Amino acid sequence: MATEFLGKNLLTLRDFSAEEIEALLDFSIALKKEKASGARPKRLAGKNIALIFEKPSTRTRCAFVVAAVDEGAHPEYLGKGDIQLGKKETVKDTARVLGRMFEGIQFRGFKHRTAEDLAEFAGVPVWNGLTDRFHPTQALADLMTVIERKGKLEGTSLAYVGDGRNNVANSLMLAGAKMGMDIRIVAPEELFPGEELVAEARSSAEGRGGKVTVTADVGAGVAGAEVIYTDVWASMGEEGALQERIRLLTPYRIDRALMEKTGGDDCVFLHCLPCFHNTDTDLSREHPEICEATEEVFESPGSAVFDQAENRMHTIKAVMAATLTGTTSL
Ligand code: CP
Ligand code: NVA
Repeated sequence: MATEFLGKNLLTLRDFSAEEIEALLDFSIALKKEKASGARPKRLAGKNIALIFEKPSTRTRCAFVVAAVDEGAHPEYLGKGDIQLGKKETVKDTARVLGRMFEGIQFRGFKHRTAEDLAEFAGVPVWNGLTDRFHPTQALADLMTVIERKGKLEGTSLAYVGDGRNNVANSLMLAGAKMGMDIRIVAPEELFPGEELVAEARSSAEGRGGKVTVTADVGAGVAGAEVIYTDVWASMGEEGALQERIRLLTPYRIDRALMEKTGGDDCVFLHCLPCFHNTDTDLSREHPEICEATEEVFESPGSAVFDQAENRMHTIKAVMAATLTGTTSL
């Protein structure tokens, strides 16, 4: 039994070594096959899981709920306005109360510090379901999808094109580099990732021969890339920056011309979702120029975005099972 996982938090993918990430990804792939076979072993029977959400969510919330129920646990959704977290009660006190009742806590919210405080005081594993800085469970699903489509992580080139300093970019850069990928962050200079984080990613890339490139040059950044990844131009909480982001990021929209610049005809398109790719949503109807990808690329055969969304559930199941039972095998 791989007991090194028991009781651990997942606040960022710094919390796990390359070998541990590999074990979680292998476990996720096995769990996906197991679910397809119809088997439902209840690894988390009798456990209660708190799901704290300060921001909205489709995939993360549903992935935690379905994964918990598949494994026999009870998930309890604690939405914005349902609990006192940080308003009428300190995060430290809420953490200590929830830790007395729940075996694990998922947190999605604004400040990364809140996730750290919950982890410090709850006494049970805390899983980061997205903060302003990081989105580690997303990065696990991203890596799983790259393995499914490209067979391996080491040496595989991925260009993240867009807001290069958001939570998704930060987690993908750290995780991909650690796993030996050739990660390119392609963004206008105003949206480059923080220098310290880039240095950290480069240093963690050394173990498996990974590479991190940060460039504003789309042509150079995507040349030879086997995977193109993007995310929304303004993340939750940044709505006021939308016009500025449209100005900065329009040259970075993922369209057929950009995909052709990769030079390959089997390039995979990834996006954490939700994605603006047509004018069929309220926001994109109002601001058609908001779209970070075209409909053509989003709906193309190379687009793996719905596999990626499904993989959120398998990877989150692996994280919960590993940290609550210590096992990473079926
Ligand atoms: N990708 C992702 O985290 O989606 P949700 O915001 O729907 O959870
Ligand atoms: N960067 C996006 C990711 C959503 C899943 C946001 O934080 O809104």
